[in-house]
Amino acid sequence: MGVDKQKVETEKSQITDCDLSEKIKTVTKESHVRANSTELMQAFQRGNITLMQYKLLLCSLYKIYEALEEELDRNASHDSVAPIYFPQELGRTETLKKDLEHFYGQDWQEKIFVPASTLRYTQRLREIGSKHPEYLVAHAYTRYLGDLSGGQVLSRVPQRSLGLKNGEGLAFFFFPAISSPNLFKQLYRSRMNSIELTETQREGVLEEAIRAFEFNVQVFDELQNLVSISEKNELRQRHKAHNLKTPDVRVSQSSELSSSLTSTSQLLRMLLGVCLALAVGIGIYVF
Ligand code: HEM
Repeated sequence: MGVDKQKVETEKSQITDCDLSEKIKTVTKESHVRANSTELMQAFQRGNITLMQYKLLLCSLYKIYEALEEELDRNASHDSVAPIYFPQELGRTETLKKDLEHFYGQDWQEKIFVPASTLRYTQRLREIGSKHPEYLVAHAYTRYLGDLSGGQVLSRVPQRSLGLKNGEGLAFFFFPAISSPNLFKQLYRSRMNSIELTETQREGVLEEAIRAFEFNVQVFDELQNLVSISEKNELRQRHKAHNLKTPDVRVSQSSELSSSLTSTSQLLRMLLGVCLALAVGIGIYVF
C-alpha cells in the first residue's frame, strides 16, 4: 500500500467548516445530486447498464483521466498540486487502457468514440493545467474522491449486469495501492486543506469544482443521448425489416387481387364473345 494508516493519522488535522475539503463538499452538494440524477447514473443505480453504455463511458473516462493526469504530472511540483499528487495510488489512465483493450482489442485507440462534451472537458483541463494549476485540485477532487466513494459500489453493477468475470473490463474501479478508501480520503482531504491559496484563488477553486461536476453531467447526458439515438435507430431498423415483410404480404394480396380481376375480365370477355357469336348466328338465321 502506497499510503499507510500511520501517515493518515499524523497528517489528520481537525477539519473545520472553513477548510477547503469541507467547503468544496458543501458548494458541490447540489451538483452531486444532479450528477446522481442523470439517466446514466440512474441506470447504474438501478443495476441495469448495457454494454454500449459501459463501453462509451469508459471511452470518455479515458480521455478525461488522460488529460487530468498529464496535467497533474506536468505540474507535479507546483505548490498547489504537490500535496495532492498521488499517481501511484490514484492513477486511472493505465487501468482504463486495460479495460478498453479488453472491450475493443489491441487497436482500441482507433476504435474509441469521444463525444463533444468530453472534448470540452479535456480542453478545460488542458487550459487550467497551463494557466491555473491551482484549479487542478478541484478536478482531481471531483473525480478521484467520487471514484473512491460511490464508484466502489457502482463497480458491482457492470460486473453483475454484463457478467464480467475475473475483474476483466473492471480495472478502472480497483485501487490496488489503497487498502482503505476511507482512510485515504481522510488523508486526501487533509492534503487539500494544506494547500495555501489566496482568497481569490480559493473562490476560483470552489467555482471550478462546480464546473467540474457540470462537465461530468454534460458528458453523462450526451452519452445517454447517443445510446438513446442508437437504440431508436436499432428499433427503426427492426421496424424497417418488419415493414419489408409487410409489403410482401401486400404484394401477395394485391397479386391475388389482380389475378382475380384478370380472371373476371377473361370471363366477361368470354361472355361477350358468346353473345356476339349468338347475335351473328341469329342474324344469319333471320336473313
Ligand atoms: C450513481 C451515482 C453516484 C453515487 C451513488 C454516489 C455516491 C456517493 C457516496 C455514497 C459518497 C460518499 C459520501 C461520504 O463519504 O460522505 C460520494 C462522495 C462523493 N462523490 Fe459521489 N456518487 C455518485 C456519482 C458521483 C459523480 C458522478 C461524481 C462526480 C463526477 C461524484 C463525486 C463525488 C465526490 C467528489 C465525493 C466526495 C465527497 C466528499 O467527501 O467531499 N459522485 N458519492
